[in-house]
Amino acid sequence: MSVADVIARRVSCRAYKSDPVPEAHVLQILEAARLAPSACNKQPWRFAVVRDPELRRRIVEEGFLPGIKMPWAIVAPVHVVIGMETSFLTHSLGASVSGVDYPWVDVGIAGEHLVLAATELGLGTCWIGWIKAAAITRIVGWPPSVKPVAVITVGYPDKDKSAALPADRRKPLDEIVRWLC
Ligand SMILES: Cc1cc2nc3c(=O)[nH]c(=O)nc-3n(C[C@H](O)[C@H](O)[C@H](O)COP(=O)(O)O)c2cc1C
Repeated sequence: MSVADVIARRVSCRAYKSDPVPEAHVLQILEAARLAPSACNKQPWRFAVVRDPELRRRIVEEGFLPGIKMPWAIVAPVHVVIGMETSFLTHSLGASVSGVDYPWVDVGIAGEHLVLAATELGLGTCWIGWIKAAAITRIVGWPPSVKPVAVITVGYPDKDKSAALPADRRKPLDEIVRWLC
């Protein structure tokens, strides 16, 4: 699959088979995230891989905010929690000058590297940002300097319930691009 194909096929997967994901594939998607670019090459991302069913249940039942029901997430055999190391002085100095919070950008890029690598392997994924950071920190055992940003569910999609492809659900280019030429 070309990168363009992978991007076109990626959808948020909210129905999973419980089949396990081979360890080699989990390592491959983490490696894709590790290679992401970051401001000053600070690599502020941290990952927690949660496969234990009881911990996955706790992530969903204790670590998600109320209001959106996401029981399908328990079925996904792998949860990758993405965290952000907040202790770098360069980041707070940079943000105070430019107004851009670079680690958020960095973590987003790394997460999407992981998602696209998973798509290439035939895996389904879903970003879940509706999380209670403090509860997730407790469950995965991160130090206070690491802020949980999102959980990405990973597993084989239950194809009967797959979503429509993204192209038809996006704003057209003329709504989002300003050409200066
Ligand atoms: C940062 C972020 C947070 C998200 N949080 C959630 C979430 O908490 N629950 C959920 O079901 N989907 C979540 N999504 C998935 C979006 O709803 C989804 O990407 C969007 O509707 C576009 O659909 P698509 O991914 O199928 O193309 C999140 C996506 C991103 C990028």
